[in-house]
Amino acid sequence: MDTLLAVRARGITKCFGDVVALDGVDLDVVRGQIHGLAGPNGAGKTTLLGLLLGLAVADSGRLEILGTPVRRALTVPEGVAGFVDGPGLYPSLTARQNLAALAALRGGDARSAGVDDVLDQVGLTDVADDQTRGFSLGMRQRLGLAAALLTKPRLLVLDEPSNGLDPAGKKHVHGVLTRLAADGTAVVLSSHRMDDLAALCSDVTIVATGRVVFSGPLSKLAAENRELDYRLATSDPRAARRLAADAAGIRIVDDAVTRHDTDALVVRALTPALDALVARLVHAGLALRELAPVVSPLEAAFLALTEPKEAGR
Ligand SMILES: Nc1ncnc2c1ncn2[C@@H]1O[C@H](COP(=O)(O)OP(=O)(O)O)[C@@H](O)[C@H]1O
Ligand SMILES: [Mg+2]
Repeated sequence: MDTLLAVRARGITKCFGDVVALDGVDLDVVRGQIHGLAGPNGAGKTTLLGLLLGLAVADSGRLEILGTPVRRALTVPEGVAGFVDGPGLYPSLTARQNLAALAALRGGDARSAGVDDVLDQVGLTDVADDQTRGFSLGMRQRLGLAAALLTKPRLLVLDEPSNGLDPAGKKHVHGVLTRLAADGTAVVLSSHRMDDLAALCSDVTIVATGRVVFSGPLSKLAAENRELDYRLATSDPRAARRLAADAAGIRIVDDAVTRHDTDALVVRALTPALDALVARLVHAGLALRELAPVVSPLEAAFLALTEPKEAGR
């Protein structure tokens, strides 16, 4: 038993009829860490998080949560909180009443359970006495997080928590998760966008069609040297295009100069070839006005790892 690990999964497989949702998945989540689970739609994220929450049982494999092997019964493991597919709320109750009802179910009252405090933490104090019926997706997500906080979890599991969050909501959620992790709680959260996770997570596991295609520190993923697409704008687009077309290791992927007559083009290159092109442009007297990756290096790595391979390759 490794007590440093909040989650230790080995060879987890889960099928729904003919669909293999998880195919031999390994996952380690360290206590006090925010671990991202990334993958495109249908990759198996919700299925995996459901197993951590005891909503379903794996067909095969070993799963230990907070040091305890998960048995075949459907129960939320001790110390775990969270939700998949949105939190369950009573629409006719207010936010505060929903939380008080949950506290009562566990035999506490709202005050001792800290209902006001968790509402404040997720930024819902102002709407605490509104019925949740009218809540936006982002507000529901935050109330679900508040409900999870009431249980003081040692493992918090959140499925696509960024969905529907406005910048202020995101700030609250990020703050809450960062504080929880600093206090030793393990957090696992999923997203279909790498950029969402990059702001929060130290480690990520990327799944595609039920298999892990990467697991490790974000820094390792970002450090992989791969070709990226860059938007390049200069004072003389046509000259830039000629120089780029002649340069070694540079591919023009979106010829915006001739197609849309704008002043930018998109080139695909490794960093050294790009550096050499910049030197040539400047040497030729062009002013460089913009040079930026079209998608972030992390998002590009994610896309490269998860894009379906063409048949026969
Ligand atoms: N209850 C279910 N019944 C049948 N198929 C399911 C069920 N849940 C998930 N699946 C299938 O399993 C795969 C993984 O789904 P899911 O875990 O929801 O992916 P993600 O959350 O990454 O989008 C998909 O092909 C999905 O259609
Ligand atoms: Mg999902």
